[in-house]
Amino acid sequence: MQNVGFVGWRGMVGSVLMDRMEQENDFTNLNPVFFTTSQSGQKAPVFGSKDAGELKDAFDIDALKQLDIVVTCQGGDYTNEVYPKLRAAGWNGYWIDAASALRMKDEAIIVLDPVNQHVISEGVKAGVKTFVGGNCTVSLMLMALGGLFERDLVEWISVATYQAASGAGAKNMRELLVQMGQLEDSVADELSSPASSILDIERKVTAKMRATDFPTDNFGAALGGSLIPWIDKLLPETGQTKEEWKGYAETNKILGLSDNPIAVDGLCVRIGALRCHSQAFTIKMKKDLPLAEIEQILAGHNEWVKVIPNDKEATLRELTPAKVTGTLSVPVGRLRKLAMGPEYLAAFTVGDQLLWGAAEPVRRILKQLVA
Ligand code: HSE
Repeated sequence: MQNVGFVGWRGMVGSVLMDRMEQENDFTNLNPVFFTTSQSGQKAPVFGSKDAGELKDAFDIDALKQLDIVVTCQGGDYTNEVYPKLRAAGWNGYWIDAASALRMKDEAIIVLDPVNQHVISEGVKAGVKTFVGGNCTVSLMLMALGGLFERDLVEWISVATYQAASGAGAKNMRELLVQMGQLEDSVADELSSPASSILDIERKVTAKMRATDFPTDNFGAALGGSLIPWIDKLLPETGQTKEEWKGYAETNKILGLSDNPIAVDGLCVRIGALRCHSQAFTIKMKKDLPLAEIEQILAGHNEWVKVIPNDKEATLRELTPAKVTGTLSVPVGRLRKLAMGPEYLAAFTVGDQLLWGAAEPVRRILKQLVA
């Protein structure tokens, strides 16, 4: 049985990964070793009824060298510090990473097996040892629209994202909720009286949102009651944010199309959802296909995508973060041809940012590599 080291298992993505691995009995087929950046020597957690002894130091290269596989959800700084040292020490095991640090390296494959199993299988055969989960919006877009890419039907995609607080981290989720709470608190009396003026309420809420003591340390701006049309840092050459650039770069790398890339570009926006990213697409198709055929192609691609009829009742019931959060379902709806012409398709999708957007592709490549 392979020895598999887990780093960052206690964080948000790591916890979701542990949950999913327990649900799927993944611990049965491996020997887990748990690492820590601060508590080595303490008792390791028990997942899947496996006693893993003590926590080991996540920076101990000699301890890491004993492993067949390292799975890290610890973040990019950890990867940047430890991965080069471990490889330089001659370690040739599998490195599986949820962070973005290694994604665009030639030696790494971005994993999303329902979409790029062919790239993964060829890579494993060719001796690739580094596997990285993709950016959440990219993975969720490909889970939703995989059928169109598989049939080479996409000329380009323009996307507007509606990204949840969880993508920015656990502290950001808390900050969003505190912001929401403070906004409500600031008008609790007025809200309890039906006679109070809604414009007075709005003025008080807006003043609260703009107050210098409104908690914005993590987001840098109000998100509750507002939005932030900026995610990650600026790429000065194009004016894109890094999140927007990833939509293009990672999509093409995942699909193995980097030599003949499909244009994917748009605006990435943070909204007040907790852990589901949503995305609105304008898709320029290579052909004018009937909508019913497009729906069939989308629905047939993988077992998690679900086509939602373009009506209000189904959309409100099925196509919202409130519905999708905590599930592996990737609904895609609002499908219709746009006024620009019969080759222009609108689509909207919602997906759990911590499941298919982060932990699930990592869990699934681990399962393949220990099999
Ligand atoms: N970068 C994403 C976000 C999450 O900020 O929502 C990680 O893929």
